Amino acid sequence: MTTTKTKAAKSKSEKAKKPKKSGELATVKGGKITPGGTEAKAAKRKATKSKAKRKTVKKKDKPKKEVFTAKTADRQILYQHAVQSPEEDVKFLARVYRSKRGKVAKHLREDFCGTALVCSHWVQRGEEYTAEGFDICPDTVGWGVEHNFEPIGDAASRVKLHIKDVREKSAKKPDVRTAQNFSYFIFKQRAELLDYVRRAYKDLAKDGVFIMDIYGGPDSMMEMKEERDIEEGFTYVWDQVAYWPATGEYKAHIHFEFEDGTEMKRAFTYDWRLWGLTELIDILKEAGFPEVETFWEGTDSDGESGNGIYRKSRRGENCEAWVTYVVGYK
Ligand SMILES: C[S@@+](CC[C@H](N)C(=O)[O-])C[C@H]1O[C@@H](n2cnc3c(N)ncnc32)[C@H](O)[C@@H]1O
Repeated sequence: MTTTKTKAAKSKSEKAKKPKKSGELATVKGGKITPGGTEAKAAKRKATKSKAKRKTVKKKDKPKKEVFTAKTADRQILYQHAVQSPEEDVKFLARVYRSKRGKVAKHLREDFCGTALVCSHWVQRGEEYTAEGFDICPDTVGWGVEHNFEPIGDAASRVKLHIKDVREKSAKKPDVRTAQNFSYFIFKQRAELLDYVRRAYKDLAKDGVFIMDIYGGPDSMMEMKEERDIEEGFTYVWDQVAYWPATGEYKAHIHFEFEDGTEMKRAFTYDWRLWGLTELIDILKEAGFPEVETFWEGTDSDGESGNGIYRKSRRGENCEAWVTYVVGYK
C-alpha cells in the first residue's frame, strides 16, 4: 500500500532567540536592498513539513502569542512558520557532508535564498562557519536582513547576500551548496537546468556537495489542495491548480487562512516545471557529479506520515507524495 509523506517531512524547530547586538550585518552584494519590502516575486512552499516544535519555554516566560489576520500578517513570517525548517535543514546539510567526507563543512551557499533563513542558522553554528545566499529579489533579501540577520548580531557579518542569479559564481567556493523548496523548478527547459547544475558543480570546493530537494509522487500531479494547521495560529493551504503532463508545467499557490475567518489568497504563486527524480539524477550525472545519492524520509508511528528523519536509499519508497533530497558529490 502506498503512503503519503506530505504531513511531517522535515520537522520545524524552535527559533534562535538571540538578543539583538550591535555589529555588522550580513553584507549584501550586487544590488540595493529595501528592508521590509513586500513585493517579493515568489517564495516557496513545502507540502510536507511537520509542526513538531520543541517548546521548552516556561509558562510564565511565554511571549504573548501573535494573533494573525489577513490584514495585519506579514506573508514572509507566515511562509517561514509554515514552510521552512532551518534548524533541521542545517543539521541535515552538515551531516551529509560529514558522513561522506569525514570532515566538517564550513562554507555554505544557499541558492534561491529568499529571506536567507538557512544561511542565518548555518552561521550560528560557530565562528568558523560562513555562508553566501543568492537571490534576484532585493525586497525579499532585504526583509531577511531585517528579520533574520539583525537579531543574530555578530554572526550576521559572516554572511554575504548577493542580489544575483543563482548561475553566478560564489565569492568563495562552497563546501555545501543547497537549493531548497524546489526553487530550481523555475528552469523549464532541460538545457537550462543542466546549465545551472553544471555551474554548481564547477563552483563547488574540492569535496563539495550539492543538495537539492524534490517533490514527487502521484499526488504531486493532481489538481488538489492540501491544508495544514500551523501551530502559530493560522492555516497553510498548498493549492495545486494545474499540471500538464506533456510539458511538466505546473502551477500552484500558497494561501493563508486565519482564525478570525479572513484569508490571504495567493500569498505566493509558482509557475514551474515538475521535474522527475530520475530526470534530475541524470542531469546531475551529466553535469559531472560522479556520485549521486537520494535520501528518503522514514515513516511515523501512524504508519502513514513521514517522521522527519532522512536516510539514504538507492530505490526510494513509492508514496502518494514525497519530498526527497538528491545529493551530488563532487
Ligand atoms: C520559493 S523561494 C525560496 C525561499 C527559500 N529559500 C525556501 O527554501 O523556502 C524562491 C526564490 O527564488 C528566487 N529566484 C527565482 N529565480 C531566481 C534566479 N534565477 N536566481 C536567483 N534567485 C531566483 C525568488 O526571488 C525567490 O525568492
